Amino acid sequence: MELAIEQMDTVLATNQRTMLEKDTREQIVFSTPCTENYTDPVLAVSEQRLRGNARSFIAAMPRVRPHFAVKANPDANILQIFKEEGCCFEIASSAELQAMVDLGANLETVFYSNPIKSPASIRQAAAAGIQWFVVDTPEEVLKIAAIKTDAKLYVRTEVSNEGSVWPLAGKFGASLSGITAIIEAAKSVGMQITGVTFHVGSQCANINNWIEGIQAAKNIFSQLEANGWTPELLNLGGGYPVQFTGAEPAIEEIGMAINTALETIPESIQIMAEPGRFLVGSAGCLVTQVVGIATRDEKRWLYLDTGTYGGLMELAEGFPSNIVSQRTGESSLWTIAGPTCDSIDVVGEHSLPSNMEVEDMVFITNLGAYCTTCACDFNGFPAPKMAMVD
Ligand SMILES: Cc1ncc(COP(=O)(O)O)c(C=O)c1O
Repeated sequence: MELAIEQMDTVLATNQRTMLEKDTREQIVFSTPCTENYTDPVLAVSEQRLRGNARSFIAAMPRVRPHFAVKANPDANILQIFKEEGCCFEIASSAELQAMVDLGANLETVFYSNPIKSPASIRQAAAAGIQWFVVDTPEEVLKIAAIKTDAKLYVRTEVSNEGSVWPLAGKFGASLSGITAIIEAAKSVGMQITGVTFHVGSQCANINNWIEGIQAAKNIFSQLEANGWTPELLNLGGGYPVQFTGAEPAIEEIGMAINTALETIPESIQIMAEPGRFLVGSAGCLVTQVVGIATRDEKRWLYLDTGTYGGLMELAEGFPSNIVSQRTGESSLWTIAGPTCDSIDVVGEHSLPSNMEVEDMVFITNLGAYCTTCACDFNGFPAPKMAMVD
């Protein structure tokens, strides 16, 4: 594999050297141990990257406590590393709750941020000691009230998701009238709402969304105070982007804008965020292999040993990506597909050397988040396994 790395260096050196190319090369280099005795796809995850990402987030926003969104990658080693780096956690299900118990996390600092929770999962969370639960409908308030009347509630407000690659608006987030209805529901069951959250959409390049969210939260705090409640929590949600094209704002730039907007939030209010993709995305490089090549009506197809079902769902939905092979040579457009017999298992059109061959290795960088966690073994093709590397 040394040769592959040298070749990769040549490929990247022939282009103008940018930070992004350097980053791609580094990700490929850290994933190369996984190509020795290769049999099935592997997600190589760099421990140093995980630690580095957590440290940059904390340095960029010293007042904001990061609660890793476990859904992005619930691997136990990753959770342990983030715990060591001083992160807390955000969960969305009973399985993620169990991961917190197994980790030995302080459950009072774990936030249950899925706006729609089953009664059974609320019961489990309450029994385990979870205190904070999100709500974005009056129905959810009543559901929680029937199980845990002393729960601490934070309301999720709608916010612009413009400029995010993976918007979450519409399915979640209460409108202004919705917030009023939620407050009324809480009053009717003797509960209080003392926190506010929002989500700007995943892989968000529009810093203004966070600033608008903070302003919306301040307005809601006034509403809460008008009801005699004391605001305690501002949760800035997730959405912080990884670098695919270099056009995405850096965490330091986002941090500067957020820090300024937070200056008017009283010190008594605890501020947290729920970064998922930013903390883990750039730490993961998927190592995969070409299993077939075909020309169909002039179109060149490249079949990998993993695809839409095997962790590449976001790519198949048009998410930005960085796909690189060990081979040098002139590039051409390939239609990349996964190995299953299903027609939706097509990842999209990407540029790769025109002389690609079966059994060539292909590296897909920035896949630490929402890859293995969204993968299954449909058709008997194994979902990528994870391997921690330095
Ligand atoms: C409630 C909540 N918090 C945090 C996240 C993490 O978002 P991201 O990975 O974009 O940072 C998500 C993602 O869907 C979410 O639903």
